[in-house]
Amino acid sequence: RTVLLLNGPNLNLLGTRDPRQYGTTTLAEVERRVTELGRELGVEVVCAQSNSEGELVDRLHAARHWAGVVFNPGAYAHYGIALRDAIDAIEAPVVEVHISNVYAREEFRHTSVTAPVAAGYVAGCGVFGYELGLRAVLRRAAERG
Ligand code: DQA
Repeated sequence: RTVLLLNGPNLNLLGTRDPRQYGTTTLAEVERRVTELGRELGVEVVCAQSNSEGELVDRLHAARHWAGVVFNPGAYAHYGIALRDAIDAIEAPVVEVHISNVYAREEFRHTSVTAPVAAGYVAGCGVFGYELGLRAVLRRAAERG
């Protein structure tokens, strides 16, 4: 069983980007922690990051029959209809993760076009949200059988 950990635009800068919102943990460290948790839970975690919406769509398609996807779409969550359609089109459950509490921030971050088609949503838990996301997506996968 394989889970995709997918990160969208600007998340390659985790650790140095706006640490008050996103903390000081790097993406490499997040990927290491989630991979380690996956090992404990008996799943392989494949990690990917892209700044381009089209590449994120391609990654979702490639994972369509995998156990699940833990996905931080970054700002695309707020307006990325192609990503919403990709999440909706694939069989694998997708849990959306936002590091920051988007509801405590600018109003344009209060909307997610991807959340309505996601199997779960985690926000405001810092990078720990990715570990919650992995646990949640595996639960969803088990429910779907
Ligand atoms: C984010 C929240 C988005 O609004 C923002 O554009 C990001 C990061 C988060 O993880 O909190 O890039 O997805």
